[in-house]
Amino acid sequence: MNFTQGNKVVLIGDGAVGSSYAFALMNQGLCDELIIVDLNEDKVKGDTMDLSHGIAYAPTAMKVKKGSYQDCSDAAIVVITAGAAQKPGETRLQLVNKNVAIFKSIVTNVMDSGFNGIFIVASNPVDILSFATLKYSGLPKERVIGSGTILDSARFRYLLGEEFDTAAISVHGYIIGEHGDSQFPAWSSANISGAPLAQKLTEERKEEIAGMAREAAYEIINAKGATYYGIAMGLARITKAIFRNENVVLPVGTLLEGEYGHSGVYVGMPSVITRAGVKRIVELSLNEEERQKLSQSVRTLKDIQDSIFE
Ligand code: NAI
Ligand code: 2OP
Repeated sequence: MNFTQGNKVVLIGDGAVGSSYAFALMNQGLCDELIIVDLNEDKVKGDTMDLSHGIAYAPTAMKVKKGSYQDCSDAAIVVITAGAAQKPGETRLQLVNKNVAIFKSIVTNVMDSGFNGIFIVASNPVDILSFATLKYSGLPKERVIGSGTILDSARFRYLLGEEFDTAAISVHGYIIGEHGDSQFPAWSSANISGAPLAQKLTEERKEEIAGMAREAAYEIINAKGATYYGIAMGLARITKAIFRNENVVLPVGTLLEGEYGHSGVYVGMPSVITRAGVKRIVELSLNEEERQKLSQSVRTLKDIQDSIFE
């Protein structure tokens, strides 16, 4: 493999999402070394000390240190959670100009270090920023992974688990498309142990569940200002799948290249994750309505992307 091995992670962005991810990494013992970089150096100092004081009770002897972009030179994974977050009532897409500018500088700094690993992007709007990371880094698409709809799909599985009184881990289903307002559940493939779920729910109930998953972020932001634990678990799950070469299917953000007739845009899609990143997209048998919703989601993202990158 002609890219960096090992399991060193550099986290850029030590806010609510970044610090929760760092805590999830430590709790799950997913890497030997975690370096944290943020403009707010005091926050990084405090978090690296605080996290290090928990190592005595962690499953592995992970080192957590404050660092700089130079630390990306031998990192296996760089996770970006830096940038502006939504205020109550704001959409993810409204963050785009501010965060694309921040990403240009972050990704350039990371690449200037000689970084040759895998990016995981979580900052919003995550699909556009994943595409920006691909453009600014010049890395192959399999090594630029967005968090995509990993969180939305987890919300969907949780809601269906509650509906059918079954553990979310046994509910299989994906929300696909934009990590944002045009996302939708691929009902035609949602199942519990292979038993299809779509026929067990009325159209009205399906709409309600899709709405609850789609609106969850707004509800959480209204209630406590930000969402972070759910995405932290999702980012840790992607990290684990890479480091353990799991060959597992996760709904991450990846570049479409002809799948469903679309190209040149990042969207959340079930994808096979290995130590080399995204191995391939798993194409679901979408029905006509779902194909139309996907086209709409792609169009929403492409319009914004084209206004920025072309
Ligand atoms: P936050 O405001 O708590 O943290 C952002 C951090 O980025 C701050 O510590 C800030 O100092 C840092 N930062 C800003 N510019 C920087 C730069 N140029 N270099 C280094 N650090 C920089 O925000 P929070 O809540 O942690 O959210 C972070 C991002 O994650 C937001 O864009 C948010 O919308 C997104 N998010 C994405 C989710 C997903 O499912 N993909 C879920 C939740 C949040
Ligand atoms: C979320 O879905 C705000 O993108 C963030 O929780």
